[in-house]
Amino acid sequence: MQRTEIFKLYEEKKLYLKKNLTICGWIRTIRDSKKLGFIEINDGSCFKSLQIVFEEEKICNFKEITKLNVGAAIVVHGLLVETPNAKQPFEIHASAIEIQGHSSPEYPLQKKRHSLEYLRTIAHLRPRTNTFNAAFRLRSAAAFGIHKFFRDSGFIYVHTPIITGSDCEGAGEMFTVTALDFMNIPLEEQRVDQSLLEKQNAIPNLQSVEKCVDFSQDFFEKRTSLTVSGQLEAECMALAFGKVYTFGPTFRAERSYTTRHAAEFWMVEPEIAFADLQDDMNLATDMVKSVVHYVLENCKPDLEFFAKFYDSKLIERLEGLLSSEFEVITYTDAIDILTKSNDKFDHKAVWGSDLQTEHEKYLTEQVFQKPLFVINYPKEIKSFYMRQNDDGKTVAAMDMLVPGIGELIGGSQREERLDLLEKQMGNLGLDKRDYWWYLDLRRYGSTAHAGFGLGFERLIMYLTGLSNIRDVLPFPRTTGTADF
Ligand code: 4AD
Ligand code: MG
Repeated sequence: MQRTEIFKLYEEKKLYLKKNLTICGWIRTIRDSKKLGFIEINDGSCFKSLQIVFEEEKICNFKEITKLNVGAAIVVHGLLVETPNAKQPFEIHASAIEIQGHSSPEYPLQKKRHSLEYLRTIAHLRPRTNTFNAAFRLRSAAAFGIHKFFRDSGFIYVHTPIITGSDCEGAGEMFTVTALDFMNIPLEEQRVDQSLLEKQNAIPNLQSVEKCVDFSQDFFEKRTSLTVSGQLEAECMALAFGKVYTFGPTFRAERSYTTRHAAEFWMVEPEIAFADLQDDMNLATDMVKSVVHYVLENCKPDLEFFAKFYDSKLIERLEGLLSSEFEVITYTDAIDILTKSNDKFDHKAVWGSDLQTEHEKYLTEQVFQKPLFVINYPKEIKSFYMRQNDDGKTVAAMDMLVPGIGELIGGSQREERLDLLEKQMGNLGLDKRDYWWYLDLRRYGSTAHAGFGLGFERLIMYLTGLSNIRDVLPFPRTTGTADF
């Protein structure tokens, strides 16, 4: 069908005025008075809808059209006419209206404003509301903005595997992937290495032999999981291409009932060779500023909508970010600041334990009132691959914290020295044999390198002012929820 999308009319009005057009979409509102009717039609191509005027004289199925319900899908043929005295710039005077799909008075999305909680229960229909139409259009634009930034900066886009045999974050929060028959799981007896178990903080078993699932009989002949991060494979690619990034789905089986954790989320992970922590922070700053700039340039109507209904300071905040210098403080200094205000927190800040969301938000919202990097965390609370600093106590890690969200990005310089890497893996109870290929990178042409992971949903929350991660994922997967 030769159809004209509504965004084109708003973009290049002159091209389409006084022309006969075909417009396809879903009815947002419909009303009529005897011989004349009005439909507001939306086709999802832009935030705005289009008014259709239809008259009994010109439309052969006038009666049938007046009986249509909100949500019905129609195809309208008609003339685009300027309306200088109306709130909309133009409207279509219909010459014919075809009905593609009826709706009914039970259609859940009537004119009244629904709560976001209710809309989550109808995730299959909510993309048709203003909020979700804008959120997912903006999500698409932001993804494109990120690809554009990396492409313009000479990065290679690499696809890292979804199914993996290693645990990148070493946190054990992985979804197992298996083709084993659940009614007939093969078991094997395994000698338990007590020292390894202790390092992994597992409860040591008094017997030294334990029954385990025999994954050697599984599809991959070893235990595999859904990836928690594409980083380890991205490192392999970075040490061939110099500058790479992955952008894909990531899975974590953490039982977090928070507004910023999902079991399935998307992560952007650049990895750069011949680079240290400072280069990493520069890249993170440039990337975030670039995508904010892209969205401000390309998604104005959607942002204005979010500013009106969800976060009145949104556009100001985004524009402010473009001109602000991101702060950098060490973890130790952050703890110093936080301990002075410990009476404000549910979890008291102490050197050696990870920052809680309330701490992150306090630092970025109250103390600095802008994005900031916290760097050099204690090595015990960070992943095995992070580069040890000369103090022997901290690692070259960085988290970017932003107001309203807390941690948006987590990254580090990687440990490129084989001996130190192997030692840290031993300290954390990781089996070197599982990471032989990762260790090889340190044997053949090892170099300083760094990277980070940006939680894409958290970025969309930041860009829209929507405060729950369930509202920026089209079909969210969180603990206990995988409907739709
Ligand atoms: O800090 P994280 O765990 O870092 C990594 O996974 C590194 N391997 C990344 C790298 O260096 N290549 O996760 C990175 C970001 C976090 O800052 C957060 O924004 C997001 O991913 N994130 C989540 N987003 C939604 N739901 C979850 N459960 C998330 N866990 C992490
Ligand atoms: Mg992190």
